[in-house]
Amino acid sequence: MKEIKVNLGERSYPVLVGANCLDNVAKYYPESAKRVAIVTQKQIGVAIPSGKNHKVFDIGTGENSKSIETVIELCRAWVDWGLTRSDIVIGLGGGMVTDVAAFAASIYHRGLNVINIPTTLLGMVDAAIGGKTGVNLPEGKNLIGTFWQPKAVICDTDTLHSLPDREWKCGYGEVAKYHFLGADDMREFGLINTVLECIKVKTNIVAEDERETGKRAVLNYGHTLAHALEFENDFTLAHGEAVAVGIRYAAEVAFLMGRIGEERVTYHEEILAHYGLQMKLGKSINLERVTSLFLRDKKSQDGITFVLDGENGVEPVLVHDQDILEKALEVVQ
Ligand code: GLY
Repeated sequence: MKEIKVNLGERSYPVLVGANCLDNVAKYYPESAKRVAIVTQKQIGVAIPSGKNHKVFDIGTGENSKSIETVIELCRAWVDWGLTRSDIVIGLGGGMVTDVAAFAASIYHRGLNVINIPTTLLGMVDAAIGGKTGVNLPEGKNLIGTFWQPKAVICDTDTLHSLPDREWKCGYGEVAKYHFLGADDMREFGLINTVLECIKVKTNIVAEDERETGKRAVLNYGHTLAHALEFENDFTLAHGEAVAVGIRYAAEVAFLMGRIGEERVTYHEEILAHYGLQMKLGKSINLERVTSLFLRDKKSQDGITFVLDGENGVEPVLVHDQDILEKALEVVQ
């Protein structure tokens, strides 16, 4: 088992990575905790080692359950059970579960401790780390949320064994992203080292810019188009699949803006292909709809901000030329 620390002063916390590391969970329960509320989904099927007074709270599946209604139901069930601020919540599942559980924990009784136990590759390399929590609104993804750092993140790679193929691809969509954010070339790495390398990059970025006032935005590489495509396709497109298309798109925008050359575009394609990811959506994209969704994206402040590759690496760039954004969509349809 390896441990990586997220350095955030008194809110620092460990990320454990390895086979069978779930057994360590009770070490991170606060002394004061009498109850452990485990938020999960029926199909996850991972058991938390017994100890304190545990209760399981199942939530629905799919992006439609990632809603404020789910959060309210959870909080009401916690009140019923008598959960207090000195107790602890565990988010056990994929990114959707840890986002919802940690959001509910962050507002329940003005905030109680949470431990994230991601059971998907995507959760381990991204969603469960860094304290972003949130739910969707009918108007778009992740539009309500908080920054609420967990007490620990436990990435037990044994929980990945039954991960469906599509979920692996989703995780690899995020893994591919780290190739452009300073990670070592992970193409020859095994699973645990890949997870560790991604987490190293992510934790350094979070430690530098916890609240996304600057640098942290690079973690959204490929995500602006991805969020729009997920929303436009009623979430039938999985997040990691959308991110892969979004990364190829971001490379094209950077190319058309003269920020990168053809070789670098080819490198993007090689990385995505290495992880078996599709770079095209396979159907036409409603240009007007998608560009209006870009504007609604929470990263847009003054025009359309895109995270783009270039001479200085990947960085947020304000794009004024809508024609480039539309033209680049052609390569990913
Ligand atoms: N998933 C992007 C971030 O944590 O900032």
